[in-house]
Amino acid sequence: MKGIVFTEFLELLEQRYSFELVDDILIDARPPSGGAYTAVGTYPHSEMVALISALCTRKNLALPDVLNDFGRYLFGRFAHSHPTFLQGQHDAFEFLSGIERVIHAEVLKLYPDAELPRFEVEMHTPEQLVLVYESARQMQDLADGLIHGCLSHFACDATVHRQTLHTHTGPRERFTLTRKI
Ligand code: HEM
Repeated sequence: MKGIVFTEFLELLEQRYSFELVDDILIDARPPSGGAYTAVGTYPHSEMVALISALCTRKNLALPDVLNDFGRYLFGRFAHSHPTFLQGQHDAFEFLSGIERVIHAEVLKLYPDAELPRFEVEMHTPEQLVLVYESARQMQDLADGLIHGCLSHFACDATVHRQTLHTHTGPRERFTLTRKI
């Protein structure tokens, strides 16, 4: 997993709680890398799971809530650190429908070792967008947060309905976004 995800997560903790909490979480999680993350580095996904779990234990929070909250925050940070990806974009559904084909494809050029999820566009009409998420990392709650962060960014008033699909390759998550136009 790319270091930018780690640095942003620790930044969020510092903002929401304190620098001391960041230290405590790093002590609890004991990441084998040592925890001195850099944005362009690459670290095991298991370290992110350990950091998030340590936060959940210390603050008595539910894992899906933490991932969702982090996703909302992360979209704002991605928008800030990669402004060109949002240039000329005016519509949340347009943008989200190009997550795999356009945005993450560009991300892969910047970070060739990025481990990105798959997003299949099942339906895209002005009123509805149906995305199916699939990833070995199973961060569907993070995806949910990123989708909500994206909707807020574009001031798009849409509902998001989730459904877990059990397939022979593992679970997939279907996100159905609906808006009135
Ligand atoms: C400007 C916008 C975006 C940028 C620059 C961006 C970039 C990235 C980067 C760098 C990673 C880390 C890859 C790794 O750890 O190896 C990532 C992961 C991820 N991205 Fe994006 N992303 C953007 C928007 C979104 C949006 C809107 C969604 C949801 C629809 C999304 C879904 C995810 C998920 C769920 C992951 C975690 C990895 C996984 O699930 O396998 N991203 N993205």
